[in-house]
This record gives sequence, C-alpha cells and structure tokens, in this order.
Amino acid sequence: MSQATTTATKWIQKSFLGETKLPIVYEPSEEKNILDLTHWVKKNQTEWREDLKTYGAILFRGFPVHEASDFQSILFATDEKLGEFYLGTSPRDQVVKHVFTASELPPHYPIMQHAEMSFLDNPPKLLFFYAEKASETGGETPLTDLREVYKDIDPKIKAKIQKHGIRYRRRYDGPSKKARFSLWKTKRWDEMFGTTNLDEVKKISDQNRFHLDWFGLDSLTITNEQSGFRIHPEAKTTAWHNHSQTFHYQAAVSEVWKIFKRQKTFRSLGVAILLTLLTTIKRISGEQSHDVHVTYGNGEEISAKEMKSITDVFWKHLVAIPWQTGDVLIIDNFSLSHGRLPFTGPRRILVGWSE
Ligand SMILES: [Fe+2]
Repeated sequence: MSQATTTATKWIQKSFLGETKLPIVYEPSEEKNILDLTHWVKKNQTEWREDLKTYGAILFRGFPVHEASDFQSILFATDEKLGEFYLGTSPRDQVVKHVFTASELPPHYPIMQHAEMSFLDNPPKLLFFYAEKASETGGETPLTDLREVYKDIDPKIKAKIQKHGIRYRRRYDGPSKKARFSLWKTKRWDEMFGTTNLDEVKKISDQNRFHLDWFGLDSLTITNEQSGFRIHPEAKTTAWHNHSQTFHYQAAVSEVWKIFKRQKTFRSLGVAILLTLLTTIKRISGEQSHDVHVTYGNGEEISAKEMKSITDVFWKHLVAIPWQTGDVLIIDNFSLSHGRLPFTGPRRILVGWSE
C-alpha cells in the first residue's frame, strides 16, 4: 500500500495498491462498526462519488462487513435505486432482496471482461461486490478501465462499430431442460426472465428491444443490437461498452492462455488445451451452431484476429487484485469492466447493483 492521497475524512484513509490507481482503497484508521461505515457513506456522497468518477472503483477494505445484510446496508446507504431483477446471463442466486451470488459458474471457468449487462438499453449504473469468503487461490475479479480500452482499440474495429453497432444473438433452452449451465450457452430463458409466463416474457423483451424467435418452448433465440460504446451520463467520457468478449466464442481461447501464463497451474494448462480444441471444432461446425454469437451490427463477423486484438488491449490494462474476506468494491459500470479468474477452494462473492 502506498501514496495516501487525502485526509479529508478523519478516520478513513485513502491509498492505492502499488502502481495502479484502480481502485482507490478506503481503510479505517481506527476500529469502527458497520453503522459508522454506512453513516459515512450516506453523509459523504459527494466525496466518494467524486473518487468513483475519477478512478472508476473504490475498494473498502478492513471494515467489519460480516454478512450479506451488512453489505446490503452499505448499498442502502448509497441512496441509489437498487436492482432486484437480473436480466443478465450468469446463473445467480438471490441471497437477500438486493444481493445475489456473483456467479454460480464452476471454479475453473474464466469469466471474460464485461461491463455489467452492457447488451441492455439501460445497464446498471453502479455495481457492488462483497467478498463474503475469499478463495484460497485465484478468483480475483479483475478490472479494466473501459475509457482506456476505448482509446486503445484498433481504429479499424472502432470505425466498424461506430458505423454499424454490435448485434447479439443468444439461443436459450427452456423450462424442461434441467441443466443449469453448459460451456457454450447462457442459462435457460425461464431462469433469465424469472417467469414461464409468455406474456410477461414478451413484455420484458419489448421493453429491452429484444427480438424473439421461438422454436418450441425449449428453444428461444434472442437478437438485439447496441451501439457498442457508451458515454458516461455525468463525466461524459466515452467507454468501450459491449459484450463482444463474453459472447464471441473465440474470445475465451486467448483468455485461457493468458490465464495459464498468469496462474501457471496444470489445471489452467488443461483448460487452455481443451478449450482450444473445442473452439476449433466449434469453428469448423460453423456460425449456425453457436448458441451465443456476436457480430457487427450489419451481421459481419468479428474475426478471430480482431477478437484477439480486443482481448490483448483488455489484458494490457487489466488489474487483478486478490480478494480479502470482508472487502466491498464499488464499480462505476460506465467506466470499468470486470470479470473473474479461475480459483480453488471455497469462494463466495456477492453482488448488487443500482439502476
Ligand atoms: Fe458481471
């Protein structure tokens, strides 16, 4: 820890981890209880929001946040309109009203960098993570500054997105398929919409400009388009803001090899080799076999080479800080992306968000 920045608030010290200014770290300089923290968050909105705007993320470390309800009380103290309906793609479980498990995907799966629900018209404004139990090894929630990514992406790719936007196509299983996740698919449509009522599904889809194609109740294809970049509602900065990394089947290959380089374990090597093989099979079987697919808005494929260059830019800016149990992280979802590195041992990270 280094470089204390300000002493504006007597008992909260601010610093950065090593060279990176992402995130700014808040720590108590004396023993405090959870009420002291929630009170501070409520009363010092201008201060922490200014830090969030500048750095993109704030890590609260060393505070007595012992359980989901403590975490939720911090969320309440922000005075944000908290989310409770999750229209995203990860399998998640609700813990308390505004708090969910971050992802129920198996520990060896990497989760690529993404801005939360960037494929929606109105993605969450702020994201909140809480390390109820930090893993033994790995399991970081790496962050990337999407404002820097926007500046660094190959201008040719940027120009294509500027002109055509981004198109997503996702194929979902339905209620009678019991499996919760598969390697290439997102969760079932009834799980995502939180209902089996088709009128309700249509209503939610209309609100989100989702185009639906039904092939019986157990197969639904959702298509929608977004601009691919977003301007921060207050700071007016431009960010790379799309799900190409998560939805392009070739993105994971570059990712798993980078993870192997970082973790240097037999498991990460095994995952990298296996995924490379499976992706080759996937490529040979053609675009129509892909359950999750992303293209430029005019339908043009994002090539493997383009995808790799996007992943390279992300990893150039990626910051991965190991969790400590009790950590709370606030992320500005219009400035930073997040992901997950594979881990071992029990790990429980909870999440909430504001609309
Ligand atoms: Fe996420």
